[in-house]
Amino acid sequence: MGELRGTHVPVLLERCLELLAPALGRNGRTIHVDATLGLGGHAEAVLEAHPNTVLIGLDRDTEALAHARARLARFADRIHLEHAVYDELPEVLDRLGYPAIDGVLFDLGVSSLQLDAPDRGFAYAQDAPLDMRMDQTRGVTAEEVVNTYSHPELARVLRVYGEEKFAGRIASAIIRERERGRITSSARLAELVRESIPAPARRTGGHPAKRTFQALRIEVNRELAALEAALPAALDKLTVGGRMVVLSYHSLEDRLTKAALADRVRSKGPVDLPVELPGSGPTFRLLSRGAELPGDKEVAANPRAASVRLRAAERLDPEAARQGRTDRERYRRRVKAMHQPGTGSPGSGTGPRSAPGDGNGTDEEGEGT
Ligand SMILES: C[S@@+](CC[C@H](N)C(=O)[O-])C[C@H]1O[C@@H](n2cnc3c(N)ncnc32)[C@H](O)[C@@H]1O
Repeated sequence: MGELRGTHVPVLLERCLELLAPALGRNGRTIHVDATLGLGGHAEAVLEAHPNTVLIGLDRDTEALAHARARLARFADRIHLEHAVYDELPEVLDRLGYPAIDGVLFDLGVSSLQLDAPDRGFAYAQDAPLDMRMDQTRGVTAEEVVNTYSHPELARVLRVYGEEKFAGRIASAIIRERERGRITSSARLAELVRESIPAPARRTGGHPAKRTFQALRIEVNRELAALEAALPAALDKLTVGGRMVVLSYHSLEDRLTKAALADRVRSKGPVDLPVELPGSGPTFRLLSRGAELPGDKEVAANPRAASVRLRAAERLDPEAARQGRTDRERYRRRVKAMHQPGTGSPGSGTGPRSAPGDGNGTDEEGEGT
């Protein structure tokens, strides 16, 4: 098998390592899940940086697994590479006998292996059978989607997953074309899309078929449903101090990630109560302020990084979370008191300069929701 290491640059690698280090570098053995192993770039760097870490790598693509297995062969005694969809993580962990994990990374979307493969049908620039399944052992192909979905179904897929303005026109062209004969090739589909888009619009926004191909890939692989189930399942498995990092490349992926994290970093107790009610406190803290974007240098070196959005979070010790709430409440009360007549103002020197857990310039609170 060819070695693809040179052709693939892991996205935001240094930042991922930095975020995962406090969780994986703790004393004793730690467990890290790479939920999207791909060619094993991030996994290799984690294994090199943390000699006491056991890595569980998942991928639904058997070809990617084979490449990663070859690349990570020197770590064979502390890796488990599993053919699985990432929403199957709890079952995989049960089977392997790991009740909890310390780190988890999701680097979503397709790998360069899949995009560059001439026969997988992911790329509009290459003619191939319309497959687009990441797992070629099961599921429906893009050919089936294109040739069997109704006009409203096709238009919805293209509009929602591809954010395609001309979704209706493209769906109509597909329906007309398939009445003449089954659409089986990626080049034919790409040409059909190009013809459906008005000439002035073709000149902007990259290749006209890019959005349609992305939409079909997301539909074929049921990517968003799997992600929506996988994120909470992975968060549930993290130990106190355990960390999750997610790299999204599509606004809907990032929105699901933001929602999954927002649900955990919010207190569900009454706002004015000075103490958290049992079970109502935040269970995670954000490590990223909003979604982190790549720097210009990274994008120049690795064009695939251009659309990445990083979010990360850490599981809290429930006791520390309760304490943080108490501190925040105390701070709120002090600020409120300062605004009462005769008690000074926040700028008068009597108020706190910063408050624990208030997120003043720290990375602790991110954007919250
Ligand atoms: C962007 S690549 C990961 C690259 C990897 N971080 C590296 O450094 O080589 C994404 C990988 O995730 C896999 N993948 C996508 N969705 C998946 C899912 N729902 N379950 C398991 N693997 C998935 C793809 O097959 C692909 O190999």
